[in-house]
Amino acid sequence: KRHLISAADLTRDDAVLILDTAEEMARVADRPIKKLPTLRGRTICNLFFEDSTRTRISFEAAEKRLSADVINFAAKGSSVSKGESLKDTAQTLEAMGVDAVVIRHHASGAPYRLANSGWIDAPVINAGDGTHQHPTQALLDAFTMRRRLVGRDAGLGKGLDGRRITLVGDVLHSRVARSNVDLLHTLGAEVTLVAPPTLVPVGVETWPCEISYSLDEVLPKSDAVMMLRVQRERMNAAFFPTEREYSRRYGLDAARMARMPEDAIVMHPGPMVRGMEITAEVADSDRCTVVEQVANGVSIRMAVLYLLLGGSEPAVTTAPRTEE
Ligand code: CP
Repeated sequence: KRHLISAADLTRDDAVLILDTAEEMARVADRPIKKLPTLRGRTICNLFFEDSTRTRISFEAAEKRLSADVINFAAKGSSVSKGESLKDTAQTLEAMGVDAVVIRHHASGAPYRLANSGWIDAPVINAGDGTHQHPTQALLDAFTMRRRLVGRDAGLGKGLDGRRITLVGDVLHSRVARSNVDLLHTLGAEVTLVAPPTLVPVGVETWPCEISYSLDEVLPKSDAVMMLRVQRERMNAAFFPTEREYSRRYGLDAARMARMPEDAIVMHPGPMVRGMEITAEVADSDRCTVVEQVANGVSIRMAVLYLLLGGSEPAVTTAPRTEE
């Protein structure tokens, strides 16, 4: 494959290869010198039209660990504010020798357009587009689940067959939910969505998952529970749920967490709104993997970049090399 636009484009073999490669990349992060020469001489542009902390910084960390040259482009402060289009912006960057583009955009479909319009030749990696897809987030979530629910070594070569995963909250605006449903289904997991009726997308009955409106009923049957942020920035203010009402029915507090099986984990893609979808007590508990997910994001993004751009460089498994 030349691009990574949607988790739905990944076969089970693709996804397992990425997860296994990320395990190899995680070993690099454990070394005193956290670098491989794989992408030396290649230039990657991180093209961000929407705010980000985790995705932007972890792509940059992954690119640097693979020895790529990195250009960070933020739409704020660029000629986009003067009306320059995505096409002209991307062609300007490619003219400066960019070999791959990582793009986050507020418009659903922007990475697909960039990859398939013929505007540029470089591979495109979707770092989140509108309410559509966030494939590397789904991959790092699946990586975290596989490590926790199957085992770091025991999980190699495997999916998440039979694991029960629950996603809770603002599914309507969540590219994380869409990507996770696609990827988790491909990996054999049983997915349940729990959301207020007003935050369930039209057509959700065609998605490969169950829908529930009762968090309390689903919690005891979940191996992992992923809380989603209520995305106020994508809502009309008239439809904002009140914090008290929302957290009473759909928030995860310690009492609710106690209903989960003993080994079940709590996940969140971040950024969290403490007190709304998750209490501080749950967010800071040992069962919450939010910080682990961030660390795993670097390994997953290294794996994706390596597999898309690594070319003829030997795999890290067969030729682990470091540089000063
Ligand atoms: N999870 C996630 O995409 O976070 P950022 O918006 O901070 O990148």
